[in-house]
Amino acid sequence: MSPFPPGFLWGAATSAYQVEGSPFADGAGASIWDRFSHSPGRVANGDAGDVACDHYRRYREDVALMADLGLSAYRFSIAWSRVQPEGRGRPNPAGLDFYRRLVDALREAGIAPAATLYHWDLPAALDDRGGWVDPDVAGRFADYADVCFRALDGVELWATLNEPWVVTDGGYLHGVLAPGHRSPAEAARAAHNLLRAHALGVEAYRASAPPRSDRAGDSGAAGIGVVVNLEPKHPASDRPADRDAAERADAYLNRHFLDPLLLGRYPEELSGIYGEAWSPDFDQEAPGLAAPIDWLGINYYSRSVVRHDPAAWAGAAPVAQEGALHTELGWEVYPDGLEETLRRVAADYPALPLYVTENGAAFADPETAASAGVGPGVGPGAEIDDPLRVAYLRDHLRALARAIDAGADVRGYFVWSLLDNFEWAHGYAKRFGIVHVDYATQQRTPKASARYYAEVIRSDGAALEI
Ligand code: FCB
Repeated sequence: MSPFPPGFLWGAATSAYQVEGSPFADGAGASIWDRFSHSPGRVANGDAGDVACDHYRRYREDVALMADLGLSAYRFSIAWSRVQPEGRGRPNPAGLDFYRRLVDALREAGIAPAATLYHWDLPAALDDRGGWVDPDVAGRFADYADVCFRALDGVELWATLNEPWVVTDGGYLHGVLAPGHRSPAEAARAAHNLLRAHALGVEAYRASAPPRSDRAGDSGAAGIGVVVNLEPKHPASDRPADRDAAERADAYLNRHFLDPLLLGRYPEELSGIYGEAWSPDFDQEAPGLAAPIDWLGINYYSRSVVRHDPAAWAGAAPVAQEGALHTELGWEVYPDGLEETLRRVAADYPALPLYVTENGAAFADPETAASAGVGPGVGPGAEIDDPLRVAYLRDHLRALARAIDAGADVRGYFVWSLLDNFEWAHGYAKRFGIVHVDYATQQRTPKASARYYAEVIRSDGAALEI
């Protein structure tokens, strides 16, 4: 018997800036990622998303590829600055039209469209007014979301935000992602405004979304949710100081967003972690952040092991796991953590359908060497061997099956990523795709991991040999 419930969605994920290219086509405005990637020294090799995978022009070919693999869902994101070039005001019909065509093409192919409204590419014009630190951004987001809900009624699963933790930690605390600021006060405020934006976005959805349960061709999945990145925080030793450090790290990464989103309160630890950057207003306003959602998306890549270190942020320093397998981004491969995460969320925040909205790995596939002119060539239709990614998928899907078996209500899985793409500050050097992209020719070539995933889907999990 399949370990996966009937109607389980087998998907792949991408995001707008990482794959689309043509950032200014059809009247689109600049985003903070256009700015960031064109600022010297911000992105490896000076890479930017100007062309990326040219998905904006090749989306039909990419939908055909998804259909070949047997995917039942595709998670993509909408670029706010295509819909509202200045981040507010009258929508840009040509920008919206791209997503309408994409949604139509997906539905024609029997693939459920899952759209994320915000995957890190804030309109630059809003950044000029303070970006996520400006309280008005939440209302702007709800207006933009409302435009999308009304225009794109073929979308089955809506997500408000992708990984608000990464937006605040990478964008406003450590400055490694756009807009590249380093300020605890800004980070705390950005986190709070992201949560306010989410709640207002959910409200707008309830007010505007047409009933969609009886529409022909739907996968059965529906509703609005939000996507968070989670990772278990394990103490490096049994010492109380290390255990406390793991608790703080857990509050900072995992509960920072889960608790306000689902329980309407912030973890107590946050005021200690942020110190004077934390405003009591945030706690007072927290009950308003828990707008009821239909599902929760979890992005899972790794765990971290931490030890007490007063000099580190949240008093918790990561401890390298010698001997473990690590991906090209230095992330420990730890499949058990997916089971642990899903079981924990199911227990602590019950009665909420879950989706694994991202899971995958960057490895230095043989094709990386090939496109650099060393190693075997990669011709059209050639198989590209990526055994580490195949094993990563197999082991994480087995962990997912164990979590479902233990009672976690998981309704779908999206591999990150369909295509090799622009990996933010790492540029094009790090490849997460199950499909190889030759950036010189835009030739797509499925890797062995794509074939393996297709076989898992086709066999309804039997290929996992559980
Ligand atoms: C996640 C992001 C996604 C991608 C993967 C590798 O944090 O949501 O866009 O970069 O990491």
